[in-house]
Amino acid sequence: MTIPPDLRGRRRRDPFWVAVNAVYNGVQRVRGLREPVLPDVRPVDRTLRLTVVGVRPEAEDVVSVRFGAVDGRLLPRWQPGCHLDVTLPSGRRRQYSLCGDPADRRTYRIAVRRLPGGDGGSVEVHTLRPGAVVTSQGPRNAFPFLASERYLFVAGGIGITPILPMVKAADRAGADWRLLYTGRTRASLPFLDELPAGLVTVRTDDEHGLPSGTDLVGDVGDGTAVYCCGPAPMIESVRASVPEGAALHFERFAPPPVIGGEPFEIELRRSGRTVAVPADRSALDAIRDVLPGVAYSCRQGFCGTCRTAVLAGEADLCSPADRDAGSMLICVSRASAGGRITLDL
Ligand code: FES
Repeated sequence: MTIPPDLRGRRRRDPFWVAVNAVYNGVQRVRGLREPVLPDVRPVDRTLRLTVVGVRPEAEDVVSVRFGAVDGRLLPRWQPGCHLDVTLPSGRRRQYSLCGDPADRRTYRIAVRRLPGGDGGSVEVHTLRPGAVVTSQGPRNAFPFLASERYLFVAGGIGITPILPMVKAADRAGADWRLLYTGRTRASLPFLDELPAGLVTVRTDDEHGLPSGTDLVGDVGDGTAVYCCGPAPMIESVRASVPEGAALHFERFAPPPVIGGEPFEIELRRSGRTVAVPADRSALDAIRDVLPGVAYSCRQGFCGTCRTAVLAGEADLCSPADRDAGSMLICVSRASAGGRITLDL
């Protein structure tokens, strides 16, 4: 029997086996025979086929896309902060935060800003029309929204997507919340008309100039949960300005810069190529120069899409599980300085 993972992608235990196991362990413990064990429940890869049921412009260069299940079934539940791994018709796989209503089991909504100089994913999303079919995995939650009495939300542009359902949930729960929403111009900010009435401050670069960390965070009391999503410089400003007594949770659009890296070499065994990885680039970025189709998604080490078998050499910055399995996440793992690693690519 296979049990689907929960919304955070964690293994779920079968309640029947949990009950059987509890009784069994109780008996065994009384008899002093053994430590508790649980049956091994394999995680399930929850792949869905979704069809586009609506596309709507939301702001300059931003569209929202609504998906429904191809087979018309109810969609798996999700919580604010969840994202979907979407495989687009071209085969590109990208992650998008869910920004609709978690109570709506018929549709998922994402919103995407078109980045013509990007890697093609956002441009492709903008070409989707009703009836197009994609596959998805998830929802997963790498940005969990935790209960608090007080929230400060900081969103930069399209970073509103995971924040919007959080703001609505905080508002419904009667929490004390405020939102600072920043961007280049008002016209570039999606979902302004959907924000609940409350303490919303819109701050745009064309009217107010670039915000400082203090502008972004303001006066934050102890015990405030600060949720922030936006471009890396904004997140760094917020991180530097949040006082110790507040809890900061953030999600980046893009991978963090490589800091303190060392150069190394990668041999791509199947392709017969050797790639030099400079100190300030990830292995993934260097490999993409010669293998543009290499699989990746989050570029931050949590989705697992870029996991690759290591055939020779030793990878640093690996989880123990990857090390044991002889694999590495090429978006974050590296070889030691001057080292060489051989990958199954
Ligand atoms: S791309 Fe997500 S873990 Fe590497």
